[in-house]
Amino acid sequence: MLIDGHNRKVDYLRISVTERCNFRCQYCMPEKPFSWVPHENLLTYEELFAFVKVAIDEGVTKIRITGGEPLLRKNIDVFINMIANYAPHIDLAMTTNGYLLHECAKELKKAGLQRLNISLDSLKSEVAHHIAQKDVLAKVLQGIDTALEVGLKVKINCVPMKGVNDTELVDILEYCKSKNMEVRFIEFMENAHANVKKGLNSQEIQEILKQKYDFIKNERTGSSPSQNYTCEDGYRFGIIEPHLDDFCNDCNRIRLTAEGYLIPCLYFEDALSIADAIKQKDIPQAVSILQKVLQNKPEKNNWNDQQQELSQRAFYETGG
Ligand code: 5AD
Ligand code: SF4
Repeated sequence: MLIDGHNRKVDYLRISVTERCNFRCQYCMPEKPFSWVPHENLLTYEELFAFVKVAIDEGVTKIRITGGEPLLRKNIDVFINMIANYAPHIDLAMTTNGYLLHECAKELKKAGLQRLNISLDSLKSEVAHHIAQKDVLAKVLQGIDTALEVGLKVKINCVPMKGVNDTELVDILEYCKSKNMEVRFIEFMENAHANVKKGLNSQEIQEILKQKYDFIKNERTGSSPSQNYTCEDGYRFGIIEPHLDDFCNDCNRIRLTAEGYLIPCLYFEDALSIADAIKQKDIPQAVSILQKVLQNKPEKNNWNDQQQELSQRAFYETGG
């Protein structure tokens, strides 16, 4: 079992397979200038998988593939299949912007992927275009439909931003409800790479939704970062509230980047590399680095602290 320095059980590994992305969402990436990590610095699927096996053997039960945009990495279904074959009972999910999903949802399902989180910040094509800095909506909606058709479970991620998509939250909720998908509104996490004036906090999101719906706050269970709410008709949605003081109490996750850095917290820049250990097939060394990262995992993020400098950590390296 993996336990961090604050006595939290860590059983969830998020793997960013590429930092590259075909979108430039304003909450995540600057438009320009941009330089990517060269391909030769990326760990291969075999190398990533060598670490995945260690993590599973040490007690990880949930794995999420992220990016950048994970569907940009070639043959991602091969990597998914490696994990699914090694640990058929593991909870195996992916976070994607959905743009390429229509073409590959079937392969992903066949490879053993179970669940998808797809970003959908607007149902208006010009607003979606403004946020992603590309005309994306039609392809994303098609991708969502195809994913549902092939039997993948889908949740929707939406980042509410003042003056951008805040008038659409009810519409987005209703769209998700009509397709039997849970929507999760995510408080914008300020970071040095973003170009967003202001995100909505949980209270503001709830006030907007309350104009149309009655809902109650659910008891928190497990380690999900999402605070769930249930509407009168039984529909459940979530709000991810990283600015709240107790957000990190049950944190169960650790992140691995495509270059082989283990990242203990989305807010901080701290990271240690397992790349050399993995390339040298030195598994005990990889485990020891993993233990060190867990020991140094911060107790909580600083998003709530107005005095702090902006987080320098780039979301496109770590996958939201
Ligand atoms: N604040 C909140 N959520 C973010 N994401 C990316 N950057 C941010 C940010 N700054 C989330 C989006 C996206 C997922 C990949 O990560 O919800 O769907
Ligand atoms: Fe790409 Fe996701 Fe970042 Fe948007 S949030 S730019 S889709 S990595």
